[in-house]
Amino acid sequence: MMDSQKKIKLKVNGREHCFTIGDGCGEIPASETLVETIRERLLLTGTKRPCNEGGCGGCTVLIDGKPSLSCSTLTSECDGKQITTIEGLEDPVTHELHPIQQAFIDLDAIQCGMCTPGITLTAKALLDNNPDPTRQEVAEALAGNICRCTGYEKYFDGILLAAKRMRETANNGKGE
Ligand code: FES
Ligand code: FES
Repeated sequence: MMDSQKKIKLKVNGREHCFTIGDGCGEIPASETLVETIRERLLLTGTKRPCNEGGCGGCTVLIDGKPSLSCSTLTSECDGKQITTIEGLEDPVTHELHPIQQAFIDLDAIQCGMCTPGITLTAKALLDNNPDPTRQEVAEALAGNICRCTGYEKYFDGILLAAKRMRETANNGKGE
């Protein structure tokens, strides 16, 4: 093995993937971005790549729970990281959508959908850390996610609705 080669492990949506960084056949070039690996090697095309230059938030995934731009992240720097893409949000047992996804559907919040995976994951990280955000806090969390279609208000409504439903579910669980 050449010195320039390095083995890395990524956990994507709970499943481990091992890659070798290098220039050989089947290896990942050190310059490959995470969005390329996710979309083109793992075929998880729910992650969008609207600008590919760090300006729109459309490629957002969660890396160790934090919203991160996968077009501006090198796969070679993700060794040992837990990565969540939009495909990883459904309940693994019941296959129900995440409450944020369900709220967006219920409120008809989505238009073309290009921004939706990134917005959904950014919102998930917000609600994981702050289960009862204000509308202003939702707007601030989504400041880096550009949507050209909706004017954002229905997304804000959907995130607040999901937060309310998730709090109700948590409270019901406590009462059982
Ligand atoms: S595609 Fe990554 S920020 Fe736009
Ligand atoms: S729904 Fe079209 S960019 Fe947001």
